[in-house]
Amino acid sequence: MKGIILAGGTGSRLNPITQSISKQLLPVYNKPMIYYPLSLLMLAGIKDILIISSEEHLPLYKKLFNDGEYLGLNINYQKQKYPNGIAEALIIGKKFINNDDVSLILGDNIFFGSKVKETLINSIKITKEKQVASLFGKFVNNPLSYGVAKFNHNHKIIKIIEKPKSFISNIALTGLYCFPKDINSKVKLIKPSKRNELEITDINNLYIRENRINFEIFDRGQVWFDMGTPDNLVDASLFVQSIEKRQNQMIGCLEEIAFKNKFISRKDFIKLINNFKNNFYKSYLENLIK
Ligand code: DAU
Repeated sequence: MKGIILAGGTGSRLNPITQSISKQLLPVYNKPMIYYPLSLLMLAGIKDILIISSEEHLPLYKKLFNDGEYLGLNINYQKQKYPNGIAEALIIGKKFINNDDVSLILGDNIFFGSKVKETLINSIKITKEKQVASLFGKFVNNPLSYGVAKFNHNHKIIKIIEKPKSFISNIALTGLYCFPKDINSKVKLIKPSKRNELEITDINNLYIRENRINFEIFDRGQVWFDMGTPDNLVDASLFVQSIEKRQNQMIGCLEEIAFKNKFISRKDFIKLINNFKNNFYKSYLENLIK
């Protein structure tokens, strides 16, 4: 399973904050936003990662992660010339995916809570074994802002409607998707929508029509944030802060996950720690080996 993080877009709803910086590098409490989606892919055991961003911002991601070897990862980069839609990530990533299964995550999505990791690991397995798409829903108060799941009387998902005009259900589609090997042939079938974007919802509906869907709904023990607006950004930061302070455990600490998942050896972990300047982050990492 490969992993793609889509970290482009204009960040227009966050302007002027995003006037000169990529949205997915903005701080969410004490880490860059992209650490959180990357950490989830790592927790699920994915090591081959492609980061897609604009030409202007890609160098910033390269500066942050380089080739990812220090985390035991293989991080690749590709540019998206213009935000033509989330599904375009799968076209840009075609060579990288190379007929493998792929997990796509939006760079502004944070997931946290019991069994998020287990749910993703299990879904990756289902996608691989059954060659179906795995999608993840979550109850929200403002479903009209999202892709929304429509269900039949047996609670089976029958369609996804992108930003519906009227109420369909409260189950929004999160920005996490696992696709089987034939994703490449599916992206060829879709056309730009009315808002002129290649919609991930159109891809997902193709799999639903073929009855090739594993739809998981995160429950109340699982938290999902997407950070499109200043308020969302603050909400997510305060959430991370309160959990970290209370539990003295970090959310989305890449070095910790790399070490605990044995992506890197203890010796390399210690080397890595020594490269940090003295601050809270270094102290946290040092405590992990005490
Ligand atoms: O967050 C979940 C929602 O994400 C889903 O419920 C929707 O079905 C899905 O369409 C998407 O909706 P958004 O309105 O949040 O999409 P947005 O255009 O804001 O893009 C999401 C992220 O992807 C954002 O951080 C920017 C990035 N992006 C977006 C597009 C369209 C790109 O990097 N390139 C793009 O071409």
